[in-house]
Amino acid sequence: MYVCICKAVTDTQIKNAISNGACTLKQLHQSCSGAGSVCGKCRNHMQQLLDQNLDHQPIIKAA
Ligand code: FES
Repeated sequence: MYVCICKAVTDTQIKNAISNGACTLKQLHQSCSGAGSVCGKCRNHMQQLLDQNLDHQPIIKAA
């Protein structure tokens, strides 16, 4: 499903970016072809995806 219509970015692309380490809207913007950078209407949905998917990221502890 498209989250960002302006940049044609899907929820799968955003979830993949989160899995690969994006943890802020700015990082999603950089790793998802500029998602959220045109009209901004998708930013709330992107933030929701961040909030939902960051909860499921493994915790990496420093040695
Ligand atoms: S829908 Fe994402 S910037 Fe417009």
